[in-house]
Amino acid sequence: MRHGIVGAAVAMCVTAVLPAFAGGDAQRGQLAYTQCQICHQIDRNVIGPRHRGLFGRKAGSLPDYNYSTALKNSGIVWDAQTLDQWLQGPAKMVPGTKMVFAGVADPQERADLIAYLQAATKLPP
Ligand code: HEC
Repeated sequence: MRHGIVGAAVAMCVTAVLPAFAGGDAQRGQLAYTQCQICHQIDRNVIGPRHRGLFGRKAGSLPDYNYSTALKNSGIVWDAQTLDQWLQGPAKMVPGTKMVFAGVADPQERADLIAYLQAATKLPP
């Protein structure tokens, strides 16, 4: 019976997390993205790497940006799931990253950011 209870608890956590991505609002996300623009632009490397083409990209893989060794060696591929974890605290996910950012505590705000990034960083066809 113990397994059943643990399984149910895990299932509840998963369903609590997944719809948050689906419920992301790109317009609210665009506003939330202003806090990223201190360091990031969609199409240009500034303090941080450009975000164009982010989804499906290997972390730390732009040839013309000087990443930390930690991020280059992280083996992460960016998607909604990995970005959600990254945005909770980059240094928690990748110790040694040079993205100095405390994180976004609110799951809805992270979902909004991810929805915005999904739309805004698409590569031209
Ligand atoms: C204080 C500056 C700063 C802020 C604010 C910041 N970033 Fe970053 N970001 C960086 C730096 C620097 C890196 C490169 C990290 C490394 O090489 O370890 C980075 C890397 C990233 C990466 C990895 C990109 C890649 O090519 O692998 C993502 C994704 C990212 N940031 C998203 C965000 C988002 C979304 C926000 C806003 C919620 C944000 N960042 C806020 C500085 C910042």
